[in-house]
Amino acid sequence: MNNKLKIGIIVGSTREGRISPQVASWVHEHAKKRTDALFEIVDVKSYKLPLLGESNDQSGVNAWNEKLSTLDGFIFVAGEYNHSLTASLKNALDSARDAWNNKAAGIVSYGSVGGARAAEHLRGILGELQVADVRTHVALSMFTDFEDWKIFKPQNLHLSNLNTMLDQLIKWSTALKTIRS
Ligand SMILES: Cc1cc2nc3c(=O)[nH]c(=O)nc-3n(C[C@H](O)[C@H](O)[C@H](O)COP(=O)(O)O)c2cc1C
Repeated sequence: MNNKLKIGIIVGSTREGRISPQVASWVHEHAKKRTDALFEIVDVKSYKLPLLGESNDQSGVNAWNEKLSTLDGFIFVAGEYNHSLTASLKNALDSARDAWNNKAAGIVSYGSVGGARAAEHLRGILGELQVADVRTHVALSMFTDFEDWKIFKPQNLHLSNLNTMLDQLIKWSTALKTIRS
């Protein structure tokens, strides 16, 4: 049995033409070079989550909760919509409770000002879900890290931030695992 920490890279936007998968792939490509945890991309779009409470079909919500339950920590790939996080990510956060609790998270955001406003709103929500969000945050600019706001071409400087964020995330995920039964 593999006892390594499992970290999910949560793809938080679901619209047609979204750029989030490019950002998630970049995070995954670098994270999986590490040997202290296993990383996987977890795409909110695949779960076809209904807006909370609007459907009797709970299959997507159940599958979402089952997936989150297997994870020890999260990296949220969060684009900024109207100075906040995407509705799809908020709905995905609302669609689980216990499966989030007592775990750690890091944030990779993007937008005209690095997705900073989305990231800060996300931090407030994570507090309520008992997810411990680490300080270091990768903030990608639509102007300098994307070509034509579509093709992801990150500047090298983000790599050191990503690695620091991962160091912090692994430490806190390891610590929090000890208090989950
Ligand atoms: C509804 C909507 C609102 C947006 N509002 C903002 C915003 O407030 N600030 C910002 O920096 N970018 C904003 N954008 C631009 C998005 O950050 C950009 O389109 C990005 O590609 C969205 O992520 P996605 O492609 O993964 O969906 C907005 C985009 C949409 C679709």
